[in-house]
Amino acid sequence: DWTMAGYRQQAIEAIREQVGNAHVICGLSGGVDSSVTAILLHEAIGDQLTCVFVDHGLLRMNEAEEVVTMFRDHYNIKLIHADESELFLGELEGVTDPEVKRKTIGRLFIDVFQKYADEIKDAEFLAQGTLYPDVIESVSFSGGPSVTIKSHHNVGGLPEKMGLKLVEPLRELFKDEVRALGHELGLPASFIGRHPFPGPGLAIRCPGEITRDKLDILRKADAVYIDQIRKHGLYDDIWQAFVAILPVRTVGVMGDGRTYDYACALRAVTSVDGMTADYYPFTHEFLGETATRIINEVKGINRVTYDITSKPPGTIEWE
Ligand code: XMP
Repeated sequence: DWTMAGYRQQAIEAIREQVGNAHVICGLSGGVDSSVTAILLHEAIGDQLTCVFVDHGLLRMNEAEEVVTMFRDHYNIKLIHADESELFLGELEGVTDPEVKRKTIGRLFIDVFQKYADEIKDAEFLAQGTLYPDVIESVSFSGGPSVTIKSHHNVGGLPEKMGLKLVEPLRELFKDEVRALGHELGLPASFIGRHPFPGPGLAIRCPGEITRDKLDILRKADAVYIDQIRKHGLYDDIWQAFVAILPVRTVGVMGDGRTYDYACALRAVTSVDGMTADYYPFTHEFLGETATRIINEVKGINRVTYDITSKPPGTIEWE
């Protein structure tokens, strides 16, 4: 008989067996997947675990503080807060191609992990919160050929030169099962219920060139949007919601002046596993109120659009 409590025990034993006395480093993003991975590992091997939280400068508002507080202070897990935003944003300067963005970020993540792993005595393993849908890299459309849509930065194993072996305790699970496991492990509901956030972060919500200026604007608009969704009690009905800042500025009028600022797109979808998705049917009232708030509260945006594309033919993220 399969139960989550049974899975938890099994997973803990499997981790202990795989790892032995070695040290594990775990990339912690603050998302449900890596959070559950970290807590599970902590339960299995305690202080043989060090988490590395890489701040690539592509996080949402207040995200770094929230994650560090939760894991270091609340769970007492060894945690390195690696502020590598200069490195990532520097390397991403001038990069506009979505696949180049993803590959650049993936490569830097590995470099950064390697750097910290080298400093940790006896580190032999790298833990990742890879899920079953991530494992299926190629999506095959009925009747069509198998096509790789996007390079997931956290999949595909590690280069041999890295000299670390992978621990992936969630490899067989779908998202809803990871949430159930998180619940089983006592993770607060506020963390378990969090919308998924992609490893490449805001980079793939900023089509075109990524600049600090655009990222700042995007973070503010996203915070207002999520606040609106929470205030209207819609957060848990939605699989994922975010703002994308568009690489175009348009003319507007505000007060007695002309504005020339960025346009943004709101995205919200329902989904079971992220493989397919439907756009969320907000009321016009909600959309209008949200647009007004964003334009009033976020300097740099003067036009708000709502993305009504489902997946397929769209993807959830913009890149
Ligand atoms: P797409 O945009 O492909 O996204 O429809 C499906 C789900 O996957 C998330 N996503 C990622 N997650 N690393 C991740 O950890 C990635 O590189 C990545 N790309 C997309 C996306 O947010 C959505 O939940």
